[in-house]
Amino acid sequence: MAVGSAMQSFFKRIAHTLRLDSRQTPYKTLRPVAVVLGGAIAVATVLLLVSSLLTAVVQSWSRSDLQLRARIIHLTTQDQVEALLRDTSPVAKLQLEKLFKRLISDERLEAVGICEPDGQIRNATPTMPARLTCDKIARSKKETTTEISFDTQDVLVSAFPLNGGKDGHLLMVQDLTYARSRSDQARVYILIATIAAATLVGIAAAFAALVLYRNWRAALRSAIEDIRAGRVDVPHPPTSLPGELRQALDQYDLVRRTIDGVHIDWSPETLRRALRSELPDTEVIVVANREPYIHNRENGQIVVQIPASGLVSALEPVIRACGGTWIAHGSGTADRETVDSNDRIGVPPGAPNYTLRRIWLSDEEQDGYYYGLANEGLWPLCHIAFVRPNFRETDWAYYKSVNAKFADAVVREARTSDPVVLVQDYHFALLPRLVRNKLPNATIITFWHIPWPNAETFGICPWKEEIVDGLLGSSVIGFHTQFHCNNYLETVDRFVESRIDRERRSVTLGGDETLVRAYPISIEWPPSALATQAPVPTCRAAVRARYGLGNQVRIGVGIERFDYTKGILDRMHAVDALLKRHPEWKGRFTFVQAAAPTRSKIASYRQLQEEAVALADTINSRHTANGWRPIVLSIRHYEPPEVFEVFRGADFCVVSSLHDGMNLVAKEFVAARDDERGVLVLSTFAGASRELAEALIVNPYHAYEMAEAMHHALLMPVAEQEARMRQMRALVRTRNVYRWAGQMLLDAAQLRRRLAIEQLAQSNAAAVLSTVRGTAA
Ligand code: G6P
Repeated sequence: MAVGSAMQSFFKRIAHTLRLDSRQTPYKTLRPVAVVLGGAIAVATVLLLVSSLLTAVVQSWSRSDLQLRARIIHLTTQDQVEALLRDTSPVAKLQLEKLFKRLISDERLEAVGICEPDGQIRNATPTMPARLTCDKIARSKKETTTEISFDTQDVLVSAFPLNGGKDGHLLMVQDLTYARSRSDQARVYILIATIAAATLVGIAAAFAALVLYRNWRAALRSAIEDIRAGRVDVPHPPTSLPGELRQALDQYDLVRRTIDGVHIDWSPETLRRALRSELPDTEVIVVANREPYIHNRENGQIVVQIPASGLVSALEPVIRACGGTWIAHGSGTADRETVDSNDRIGVPPGAPNYTLRRIWLSDEEQDGYYYGLANEGLWPLCHIAFVRPNFRETDWAYYKSVNAKFADAVVREARTSDPVVLVQDYHFALLPRLVRNKLPNATIITFWHIPWPNAETFGICPWKEEIVDGLLGSSVIGFHTQFHCNNYLETVDRFVESRIDRERRSVTLGGDETLVRAYPISIEWPPSALATQAPVPTCRAAVRARYGLGNQVRIGVGIERFDYTKGILDRMHAVDALLKRHPEWKGRFTFVQAAAPTRSKIASYRQLQEEAVALADTINSRHTANGWRPIVLSIRHYEPPEVFEVFRGADFCVVSSLHDGMNLVAKEFVAARDDERGVLVLSTFAGASRELAEALIVNPYHAYEMAEAMHHALLMPVAEQEARMRQMRALVRTRNVYRWAGQMLLDAAQLRRRLAIEQLAQSNAAAVLSTVRGTAA
């Protein structure tokens, strides 16, 4: 009873909270079913009672029927019988016998005879039961009917007075078995009808129950979706619920499981909820070199640009979901004009919901910190793309001072003593320690967006100890893959005196623990650039028109920053190899390479661009025919909607990084293909290949292998494309960027709770100690 009412009130609260129609709660849903079933049982009981009554009625009907027949026979034969009885001649006797024999030819009339006034039965048919006597049946002057049971048979005996009884009685004996069998038959029919009716009602009730239960489940599921998406709050279920309901209700616990990082459907709402419940009232500050929105002055107008950066496309949706402050280098030509007096501006433009705080860097600072140490030193060092890293003392000095400048900005921007600081990338290896020194209670999560090489390779960096130590100021350090985490732990082990706990995947230095974990980065889902896209055939037509391609020409694409780590030259060599090995593609296939200029101040980048232009020319002139060319090289910046249009217009996309932390282009291509078509050719050296196993995985250093993958992609049957694409889309959808950020924040929250307990234990121990000392003194 208590369980029942607890459940009822719980469902009422759920229904109220979720604004469900109260009929959708299980109790009310099942009530009509119970009514139908109860009704079925009642009808069956009534039918059984009626069946006994009906049996009796049928029996009495049959008896009256026999009586009536006897009376009719008597009336039609009375005169003849009385006349023959009065005639004592032997002929009359014979005629009487003959008449009686004819009468018993009716199957239900068993025997006929005369009860003489002396009490003897005479002129009887031979079928007259021997044990029948006239005593009780033929006394009255009126017609009588008597039921008599013999051993094997029941009979109905009708006696009709002849001449008012003076000439005795005419006896007619009829078999009652007929009446019995008639009522038995009636009973069987009634029973069959009862069972059939009960079965039909039962089936109808079961069907109704199923339909109602399904509706209820659907309502429950949509309610769970509401909870998961954070649209409603959930009351706590009572603990004493029966099994099946308990199971259903356990689904309500999704939010909690989401927050534990086990569940899958991460969205901006779940991320916000995770932050709210696990890190309540926490301030979020992002530090990244690249700003999410760049204001440039072009032709006298201020134009907003979204930079081509994996970091920006991943992090921007996260900060949009959480709110907070993004501290970045103000690199646009109109950036200073657009900020307020505190160098702040609300973004996204038009619908601001977080603050961009811009930091100004001098040319010298940029050259030393960004171009120098970050992009000529650490970038090639970590990517192992066979471009020699350069380490210059002056670059290092700027790197240190710019890290300090950003760290100061973090401290100034912080409104609380314990913000969550999300530090991004190799530009800020020293910043975590600097912030930790100023804000010891901050939760600092550093994510290294590029690979981390093995200890031996990292060992060539002159400032390896400082860099490793600077990073250990973080609460959590994240890499894309476990492989890079292992490399980092190995580097710590080699160059810094610390305690490494491989089980917990953490490093403890000077009493502070840093978790080192893999968090594969991803993109937002659904991607906002997809919202404005035309259908795939329209995109294809637009791409063909833009690059001057014929209607039948198949399209391969590559889109990224013009970076030597991306293997752009290698994929051009692969296109050359494809046309040599499979000349049938000449005139029927074009590779579109879109590349955004980047870091052009650095010689290796300028050189790459020149080499790429020259190589495209060489390959084009080698294969060109009738105005067709195999490679279209488009060197300019592409905004996200244009990138998505190119992806949607292509037959395949090549990501041929020589080394890459993750590579979000691969994930964006998959996200752009909501038609589930198109093939991804993906380098085994990009972190994304660990997750997107259904791509055609290639070694970008092997031109022939890549050429064969392109050939395979162009010939791949639609069903196979769909199967592969569906699988990859499911992965990108569930492992989206909200999950990436959510899992880091949850790990940080756990660490924060642990630290709070340790601090509490320490202050308790100190209090005990001072009490003991006081007592001793
Ligand atoms: C890589 C780095 C990012 C960087 C991006 C663009 O993805 O990991 O930190 O933002 O390249 O490079 P850029 O130098 O233009 O910011």
